[in-house]
This record gives sequence, C-alpha cells and structure tokens, in this order.
Amino acid sequence: MEIAGHLQTTAEIIDEINELKRERGAVILVHNYQLEEVQRVGDILGDSLGLSREAARTDAHVIVFCGVHFMAETAKILSPEKTVLLPVKHAGCPMADMVEPEALSALKARHPDAVVITYVNSTAETKAVADYCCTSANAQQIVDSLPRDQKIIFAPDMNLGAWVTRHRPENVILWPGYCPVHHRMTVAEVEAKRREYPGAPFMVHPEAPMEVLLTADAVESTGGMVKYVKTLPENSTLIVGTEAGMISRLKMERPDIHYVLASHDTVCANMKLTRLTHVRDALRHMRHEIVVPGEIADRARRSIERMLATP
Ligand code: 13P
Ligand code: SF4
Repeated sequence: MEIAGHLQTTAEIIDEINELKRERGAVILVHNYQLEEVQRVGDILGDSLGLSREAARTDAHVIVFCGVHFMAETAKILSPEKTVLLPVKHAGCPMADMVEPEALSALKARHPDAVVITYVNSTAETKAVADYCCTSANAQQIVDSLPRDQKIIFAPDMNLGAWVTRHRPENVILWPGYCPVHHRMTVAEVEAKRREYPGAPFMVHPEAPMEVLLTADAVESTGGMVKYVKTLPENSTLIVGTEAGMISRLKMERPDIHYVLASHDTVCANMKLTRLTHVRDALRHMRHEIVVPGEIADRARRSIERMLATP
C-alpha cells in the first residue's frame, strides 16, 4: 500500500496559509472560541463586536472568517465589496436558527410602538427586521440608551435579553431562543466549583440563565473576559462559565491563571468544526463564499451600523 501524495506537516500547512494570505490579500479573523491551532494563524482574535469592527475597517480584499455563519454574514453585510469566506460551510449557530423572520415581523406588526433589538447571533433576514443589532459586549449600552418606558422586543436570546433589561422588565417581550451550550449551565454546578475552589471569582457569559448570572462576580462577552483576566492577581484561580475553547484563548493572555470550567458540558460543536486544513483550503480554493441578497443586506446593515456606533 502507498500514500498518494505528500501529507503536509502542521508547519507546512501554516506556511502555505501565510503564503496564500499574501497572494490573495486576505486577513484571517478568528473568534475566541475557535480551536487553538486556528487561533494561532489568526491576524485578529476577538469577540463578535471586535471582529465586526475589524471586518468593517480592514483594507484586505478577502476576509477568511473562522467562526460561525452569522459572523461571516455580518462581515459580508458590512463589506459587500469584499470576498468573505467561511472555511466550513455548515458551521452555524443553533440560536440564530431559532427565529423565523416572518414570525418576528408579525410580532413587530402587533407591537408597532416597540423597538426590535436582535442579538448579532441571528440571520441576515432577522437582522433586516430589527431596528438595532447588538452583541453581548454592547447590548446593555443599547438598552440603556433607550427611554425607560420604551417597549422592546428582544430576539433571539431570552437569557441575554432578560439580563440587559433586568432593571426595566416591564414593556419587554423576549423571543424564546437560547444558546444550547450556555443555557444548560446550572447554579448547582457553579456552587460545587465555588466549594472546591473557595475564594475564586466566577466569570460568566450573559447567554447563561439569569439565576446563574446573578451568582457571578463578572458577566462578560468573550472580549470582556480577555480584559477581565488581565486584572487578576498572579497565579490565582478563576471559575469560567462559557464555551470550553475560551480557556485556551485566556491562557494566551494570562498563562499563570488556573482556569476551571464551571460546567462540564460547554463545548460548541459548531465552533470546533474549523481546522487548520479548512483555513488552508478556504484560501486555496476561495471557498465558501458568503452571499447575502442586496435588499436584505441593505436593511440588515442599518441595524448593524447602529450596533457598531455603540461602544
Ligand atoms: P461574543 O460576542 O461574546 O464573542 O459571543 C459570541 C457567541 O457566540 C457566544 O456564544
Ligand atoms: Fe451559537 Fe452558543 Fe455556539 Fe455561540 S456558543 S455560536 S451562541 S451555539
């Protein structure tokens, strides 16, 4: 038996990615939950807000988006003249698929006095219905910028929506969507970790349920988590309530910290689909190109631009 062709080593794959990147005039944007091997070839690592900002301002002709579909789609809407590639075509976000845009439109029509805020984890069609788009990094600021008595429809994440409207829950309609990874986190799991690591702070993503968020020392987007760990004392322990891949990202920032996952079951399978070979193949074959119909993109862009205008 013989192996046809040459099996590339990791170093050779990385070399090819860097060469193709130069040839194509590409930038590689990588979400904080991606596998460490992919994070290592990223030009920019970040959360949804940071990567959207980068997609809007980059001079590169080609954006390789290592994340899930809604992230690459948002980049395409912001930079329609650029080629945006998603290395794994079917890397999606189940929460984004929990909204039927027609049903959200119908809800909006029944509440004409409401402002519709959609979390960035949503499809372009859903964003096209929205007045505002937000990420977990600026949802609170967007809600706080609205008059106290403003009626709000928040979709699709009911946990994030409940969290950012907790001081004004009246006049708020939450879409019953959730992130399957964060939604299953429980207070009992967090309490067990707190007993095991007394004194360790607990940091969590706002996609977790309200009762878990209320027990936290810090509620942060993934970008906020990177900033938070920079403030911790040397060699301390931190309990982390988010997608498991975040640990390798945090280790890049603060390798001295002892990170403990709050829950044993927090792997986002979609975020783990992209491997180095997919990034190489995306650049080799210029695949998989994101296309958003012009009329939907134009409507979605208004809400996304409001998101980018909010710190
Ligand atoms: P961030 O915007 O905090 O990076 O979160 C994206 C996400 O999908 C969380 O599950
Ligand atoms: Fe979607 Fe949750 Fe995965 Fe984030 S972690 S991409 S919200 S399924």
